[in-house]
Amino acid sequence: MEVVSVIGSGLIGRSWAMVFISGGYRVKLYDNQPGLAAKAVTEIRKQLEELEEARVLRGPLAATQQLALLGHYDDLAQALEGAFFVQECVFESLEVKRSVFRDVERLVGGGVILSSSTSCLVPSNVFSTVQNRSRCLVSHPVNPPYYVKLVELVPHPDTADTVMDAAHAVMTKVGQVPVRLKKEVDGFAVNRVQAAIIAESWRMVQDGLISVEDIDLVMSEGLGMRYAFIGPMETMHLNAPEGLRDYMKRYGEGIGRLLNSFGPVPDFFSAGAESIYNEVCELIPNDRQHLSARTERRDRLLVGLARLKQEHRDQQAEPEVVGTSAR
Ligand SMILES: NC(=O)c1ccc[n+]([C@@H]2O[C@H](COP(=O)([O-])OP(=O)(O)OC[C@H]3O[C@@H](n4cnc5c(N)ncnc54)[C@H](O)[C@@H]3O)[C@@H](O)[C@H]2O)c1
Repeated sequence: MEVVSVIGSGLIGRSWAMVFISGGYRVKLYDNQPGLAAKAVTEIRKQLEELEEARVLRGPLAATQQLALLGHYDDLAQALEGAFFVQECVFESLEVKRSVFRDVERLVGGGVILSSSTSCLVPSNVFSTVQNRSRCLVSHPVNPPYYVKLVELVPHPDTADTVMDAAHAVMTKVGQVPVRLKKEVDGFAVNRVQAAIIAESWRMVQDGLISVEDIDLVMSEGLGMRYAFIGPMETMHLNAPEGLRDYMKRYGEGIGRLLNSFGPVPDFFSAGAESIYNEVCELIPNDRQHLSARTERRDRLLVGLARLKQEHRDQQAEPEVVGTSAR
């Protein structure tokens, strides 16, 4: 049975472990803090039992079968033995990641794929100390990866196409939805798009154009409704009778005018930012109890949405006429 090593047993390491065992891989979970990987397995057991009870467990295997695939390790060499794929999930620090990959490369064979979960570091930085960089890539998940299936595959300039293909196949096998960046770029795709949304939302609130509560509704009850199923490109293509070219003929100039009216990058730490912090905390008090309750609510809603999207995929898998014009 193929083995995946997960390095780091925090929030993302635990989630990756759950995703990989749900797809039938044997997972060796390692943390350099003795006992932490074992604690993570106990936590995963609890979560899998709850997910099974709620009938939202991922993959074809029962919770006990999935748990039988999972082991915890305090020793890196043992955790890497037999692995064909290594998913690194340690702190978001260049120094820590570089030192982990230096150690990992010493302990694994040349064909083993080295994959990092980094959110903000580009592959050419993360893998600068690795000798054979053709087998390196970033596989960036979206939190929480168990419910949000997108994973961005980002190559190092030296990454072999076969490695990108292999990572794509692994992610597809475990039920994630991989997308490929053709080249590395700061923020990859998710965080670049997210930063654009954050910036304009922040500017509009700061300029007194809209409240915090209402800008969030713009996404959750407006744009987000369709973005859960179709992206911005398809949205435009469908929003004019003759498709995207027609859409741009009608709206392209207006979009350009709006883009030119966007202000500079907001200062998230200015005195003006203080009132935004206060407004957010009035809606959701900034204490553990309220934040946990809202996080649980988010995860519950994401489970429902993930289920709906799965039904949608199952329907799409049924035979249908493709490639014909809707008109
Ligand atoms: N949290 C998110 O929303 C999110 C989303 C996508 C990607 N990521 C990325 O995933 C990675 C992990 O983030 P997280 O939120 O799980 O962090 P975390 O702090 O919850 O967990 C990090 C774990 O790594 C362990 N660790 C630290 N140094 C180590 C080492 N040298 N060897 C082995 N284990 C070590 C720590 O003990 C800890 O258990 C980061 O690169 C982060 O940017 C996080």
